[in-house]
Amino acid sequence: MFKTISSLAAFALFSGAALAQDAAPAGDIKNGEKHFLSDGCYQCHGVGGNGAALTGPKLSRTALPFEAFLNQLRKPAAEMAPYEAAIMPEKTAADIYAYLKAQPASPAAKDLPLLMGMGVK
Ligand code: HEC
Repeated sequence: MFKTISSLAAFALFSGAALAQDAAPAGDIKNGEKHFLSDGCYQCHGVGGNGAALTGPKLSRTALPFEAFLNQLRKPAAEMAPYEAAIMPEKTAADIYAYLKAQPASPAAKDLPLLMGMGVK
């Protein structure tokens, strides 16, 4: 019995390590911010990746796994221009991803000064 439990524990540890490997590569948030601005992402996706109704979806705190994020850059789903490896190395993409993941959560509507007093709950 103990043996089963300890091998289960070993398995859990091992798969935890495997999961950690699948996670996004460590990125440089500052460099990511620089590229988000200089490489034009913000022009369609808004400052901080907050999204703009007509030009690009919200990217701030994206739920996409890094692989899907990178895939969108290389082979965009629809209208976004591609960012091939020659102009955007994977390392830069990882930095931008880290920058987007590090964005603060949006405040609740009731905490937005502009909406206070307008009955927003
Ligand atoms: C010319 C406008 C434009 C620019 C510049 C642009 N995007 Fe996009 N992006 C879009 C549009 C529009 C979509 C919606 C899907 C599509 O058209 O491929 C999108 C979708 C995405 C998505 C998928 C979001 C999701 O949740 O499915 C990611 C990730 C993304 N863009 C990242 C970036 C990054 C990073 C940059 C800068 C390197 C960038 N985009 C530059 C317009 C743009």
